[in-house]
Amino acid sequence: MATAVITTKTVDFNDGNKIPSVGLGTWKAKEEEVYTSVTHALQAGYRHIDTAAAYGNEEPIGKAIKDSGIPREQLFITTKLWSNAHHDPVGAITESLDKLGLDYVDLYLLHWPVFLNPKGSPSRVPLLPNGKRDIVMDWSFVKTYELMHECVEKGLAKSIGVSNFSVKNLKVLMNATETKITPAVNQVELHPHLPQFQLGEYCAQHDIHLQAYSPLGSVGSPILKDEVLMAIGEKHGVSPATIVFSWMNSRDIVYLPKSLNRDRLRQNLLVVELDDEDIETINNIHKTFSKRYNDQDWSPMKPFEED
Ligand code: A2P
Repeated sequence: MATAVITTKTVDFNDGNKIPSVGLGTWKAKEEEVYTSVTHALQAGYRHIDTAAAYGNEEPIGKAIKDSGIPREQLFITTKLWSNAHHDPVGAITESLDKLGLDYVDLYLLHWPVFLNPKGSPSRVPLLPNGKRDIVMDWSFVKTYELMHECVEKGLAKSIGVSNFSVKNLKVLMNATETKITPAVNQVELHPHLPQFQLGEYCAQHDIHLQAYSPLGSVGSPILKDEVLMAIGEKHGVSPATIVFSWMNSRDIVYLPKSLNRDRLRQNLLVVELDDEDIETINNIHKTFSKRYNDQDWSPMKPFEED
């Protein structure tokens, strides 16, 4: 039986900055819940919080950070550019910083490679009369990413990167002459049912760090009832969640578990040393069952489509 320890691991970015390997995920954490969740996480030892303009919770997160009294330089804060502001990243990050009560974020991510009508309605996810998302087709994420360079130049973000990018879209971005800063990160859904090995290989080749959102498959997923993970957990005397995080840790992946429960927040900092056989077994789970749990309809755009 292995001993579970609190991980204090950090991972290096291609631009020289460092990120703690565990961050608190806050997607789907409602405004009224998130202050408590962030406060408890910071008390438990988390120093990395992940949010996004689209989550609508930057203000309470900023308040929890301020109330914690933890010096800014000890924290790593990520937020993301929402799809209705692709034409104005500097304006959007300024608004996010204002809500967070911060002078800079450590990481600013292009949330999706798809642009929504900035004048559409409702404002966050504008819809067409047929109920489909109101997507702007004549704009490129390359242009947005180029504009995001200014966030670094102006000192508003220490690092920039992308989220929900496939290998196909990363190739477009990396091959564009406008891309002067290699993304530090590609943050994607990643867990044993969607291990993202191909994407991971491409990212490793280009020194882009792969980050896992929904590492447990998000609210209500069956991952923690996976028999293979449960059996490995039993063998090591830890929960299946600890097994998932230990597997990510062994792959040098930064993961962003979300919890509103104080005990589980603490538990999600733990990792155990897995043996090669365990890792191989977890690597193979997706061959029996694979699923993307955050499969949003961006039609006619297909962000996850490959060549
Ligand atoms: P809760 O907030 O009650 O802890 P993800 O991190 O993939 O987004 O998944 C979040 C979901 O997983 C939430 O429903 C959260 O519920 C639950 N969760 C988080 N950590 C654990 C854990 N260690 N054990 C069981 N469920 C967990």
